Amino acid sequence: MEENSIEKSLSDSLEKPYFTFVWAEDKNGLIGKEGTLPWNLPNEMKHFVAVTMDDVVVMGRKTYESIPNRPLKNRVNIVLTSNKDYEAPGAIVVHSKEAIMEYVKNIEKPIHIIGGTTLFNLFINEVNLLYRTVVEESFEGDTYMPEINYRYFRVVDSKEGIVDEKNKYPHHFFLYERKKLVNPFDASQN
Ligand SMILES: NC(=O)c1ccc[n+]([C@@H]2O[C@H](COP(=O)([O-])OP(=O)(O)OC[C@H]3O[C@@H](n4cnc5c(N)ncnc54)[C@H](OP(=O)(O)O)[C@@H]3O)[C@@H](O)[C@H]2O)c1
Repeated sequence: MEENSIEKSLSDSLEKPYFTFVWAEDKNGLIGKEGTLPWNLPNEMKHFVAVTMDDVVVMGRKTYESIPNRPLKNRVNIVLTSNKDYEAPGAIVVHSKEAIMEYVKNIEKPIHIIGGTTLFNLFINEVNLLYRTVVEESFEGDTYMPEINYRYFRVVDSKEGIVDEKNKYPHHFFLYERKKLVNPFDASQN
């Protein structure tokens, strides 16, 4: 599901900046193992790049450190940590959710929350679009996606990933939109 017409019309209709979640989970909601991904699935990485390119990506310190060639190129990288001395060359380091909101409020682009669990939990009330990839296998690991109430979202696009030599696990790409969109900067409605 590269940038397509559904996505384009959706993102045109949403007021910017808006928040998305972008992640891949296995059949059991697993997303991480020992600081990295539980699987090797190049198609998923390509999808991630296509969704996030030229936009803003927000992540926890552990997810940031899981990226081999950090920061992510051609994207504004925002890293959340409680460590006031933390340095992440080429990225913006912040220490609170409020600092993230303040930083992104005037950015006319999608703000992609890319994990991990703590970050997804932190923005569960602000998110309007979900880019969810399901890897149809059970893996071992230690980090899970927080529970999302899918009753508040509708699937607006889905696509089966192509299984081949390099992409051994069946997988599906889903795009959900929140049925009743929220204004992430108006906390009173959430
Ligand atoms: N499958 C996927 O799509 C996907 C996506 C993302 C990540 N992952 C995987 O998930 C794992 C990492 O996720 P994780 O949930 O363990 O960690 P994480 O959310 O990436 O990072 C947690 C860290 O973020 C900082 N943090 C979180 N909330 C904060 C707050 N309110 N204020 C200040 N700092 C805050 C803290 O950093 P300090 O400790 O420095 O204070 C905390 O230890 C890895 O295995 C990664 O590969 C998978």
